[in-house]
Amino acid sequence: MSRKIIIDCDPGQDDAVALLLAFASPEVDVLGIATVGGNVPLALTHRNARMMCDLAGCDVPVFAGCDKPMQRVLRTAEYIHGETGIDGIDVFEPKAPLQPQHGVDFIIETLLAADDSSVTLVPTGPLTNIGTVIDREPAVLPKIERIVLMGGAMREGGNRTPSAEFNILVDPEAADIVFRCGRPITQMGLDVTHQVLSTKDRVERIRALDNPVADATAGMLGFFERYDMSKYSAPGAPLHDPCTVAWLIKPELFTGKDCNVAIETRSDLTLGHTAVDFWHVTDRPKNVHWVYEVDSGGFYDLLTERLATYGETA
Ligand code: RIB
Ligand code: CA
Repeated sequence: MSRKIIIDCDPGQDDAVALLLAFASPEVDVLGIATVGGNVPLALTHRNARMMCDLAGCDVPVFAGCDKPMQRVLRTAEYIHGETGIDGIDVFEPKAPLQPQHGVDFIIETLLAADDSSVTLVPTGPLTNIGTVIDREPAVLPKIERIVLMGGAMREGGNRTPSAEFNILVDPEAADIVFRCGRPITQMGLDVTHQVLSTKDRVERIRALDNPVADATAGMLGFFERYDMSKYSAPGAPLHDPCTVAWLIKPELFTGKDCNVAIETRSDLTLGHTAVDFWHVTDRPKNVHWVYEVDSGGFYDLLTERLATYGETA
């Protein structure tokens, strides 16, 4: 039976690939997409999400959520994703409509109407929408089966500051609410996402699928990779956000352990740091399944196999 999910994202090329993977995977049933200010401002993240719906030919409803963090100003990442947030493909005005309801209200309404532990939240951007949902309507908590998020780091260090990963840094107060909420969390931090590099042969294998969605994916990866390849002198860029969807489809590709993760919300120096108690040196609750290893070949096999389905005639 497919798992009901809500994807909360800030496309961003890697968020976009996570959407395309989810749309092509019967293991998940995407109830809706909420978008948030993050990699680029909200007006672009919801436009980019709707572009992916058009590309994939899917009618999943798209909602605009919060345009800035709960208490801070928005930091964006055009230096990685380009001014459009999705550089690497030609931007177009999508046919997929923007739903009139606010993304936070959509998530609250959907969860309140759901059975207990029946909906999985998949945030792949700053946690502003999810933190606001929990803060505004805690009655939703028993309805959340699990939160499978991309964010944070341990051994890998930060990617926006020496100690913080972008998604957590943008809205640490929202992240703190989410990590303290008591519902099961699976966390894909940089320690695992930096193992799934979009190397040349992997991108060429996707391009060779020769269908419009695979072409768009190869184009987006071709742009998205340039910043990280030069920063890390790596043979490809980390394909962060699709790790969340891949875990839902094929968890056996990943290795993790339950431990405590807490968020730094006060220090100017280490704001947004995810303190991962990997060796259980505190008595803090094990609130997170911290994922730290992945079969990267298997991950790209899965992604390529699912992108290939976009070329199959109906
Ligand atoms: O730090 C990587 C994360 O920040 C990814 O989700 C990327 O899309 C950006 O949102
Ligand atoms: Ca993202």
